[in-house]
Amino acid sequence: MTPDLRVTIAGVEFANPVMTASGCCNYGEELAQVFPLSKLGALVTKSITLKPRLGHPVPRTAETASGMLNAIGLANVGIDAFIKDKIPFLEKQKTKIIVNVAGATINEYVEVSARLADIGRVDILEINISCPNVDEGGLEFGQSPALTEKCIAGVRKVFPRPIIAKLAPNVTDITQIADAAHQGGADAFAVINSLVGTSVDIDTWRPRLTNNRGGLTGPAIKPIALAMVDKVYTKCKLPIIGIGGISTYRDVIEFLLVGATAVQVGTALFVEPDAPVKIVEGLKEYMKTKKLSHINDMIGKVRKYT
Ligand SMILES: Cc1cc2nc3c(=O)[nH]c(=O)nc-3n(C[C@H](O)[C@H](O)[C@H](O)COP(=O)(O)O)c2cc1C
Repeated sequence: MTPDLRVTIAGVEFANPVMTASGCCNYGEELAQVFPLSKLGALVTKSITLKPRLGHPVPRTAETASGMLNAIGLANVGIDAFIKDKIPFLEKQKTKIIVNVAGATINEYVEVSARLADIGRVDILEINISCPNVDEGGLEFGQSPALTEKCIAGVRKVFPRPIIAKLAPNVTDITQIADAAHQGGADAFAVINSLVGTSVDIDTWRPRLTNNRGGLTGPAIKPIALAMVDKVYTKCKLPIIGIGGISTYRDVIEFLLVGATAVQVGTALFVEPDAPVKIVEGLKEYMKTKKLSHINDMIGKVRKYT
């Protein structure tokens, strides 16, 4: 029997629970040269803003123990070029398309989302209220329940299909922000974005990133991400897409067990671009060994100590 890997989030069915994470494969064109994107549950684009952004000067990435720091600064082509130059490619892909949206003001989030509402092939929006690498917007929204609710509610008014709120780990209580996003009209949570971090070159006494600080990602953050997914799953009521340090199918199973319905793979794509394909194969084999017929049989099934 072939295990059934399909998952449904907010009425949208995904062929499997494995998605790319925003910012780790641009708009999908390069990744499509490595494997057919139909192998993914969904492709998540880089954050799109109203105007094009060059981002921060290099160096804007640095390797750390079991992870990396980045302060890209939301470099992207902007909504006009995205629609003109990137959507035609995305429309042809046989996978679900999730467009990640960012902004410096709530109006910017709303304006970009309204433009995307007209493009039926954009299945879902992921609202990035958690970017640690920009001076305005981003994390500022994601750290305030009131601003989170306002931002999501603004997008809700203009975008008729599902909305994912991408949450920041850089908060005291992630469930407060999750509840505010739910209140604003979100359909699902993406947990987590990167954690604020830095690194200093001891020869030059310079930070290794021109932004001085960045976002920590990769295997180093997996235990934190798992604990946050577990917390949100236990206390909040929407489906969760788990993100943080996933490189293998084994990592995915941990996220499913603590309550994620789907997952995203980010930093691992830089090391092994076909990691999502290997992960899907690994999940199938694991399920066969464990005699599990459906991926849902694992979601939230961690056997906690009481
Ligand atoms: C180079 C780089 C760029 C990123 N850009 C974005 C972005 O534009 N928008 C966003 O929501 N997240 C962005 N992220 C965060 C990832 O989507 C993801 O939440 C984070 O990397 C944790 O997952 P990972 O440990 O699998 O990489 C970026 C991460 C990296 C490494």
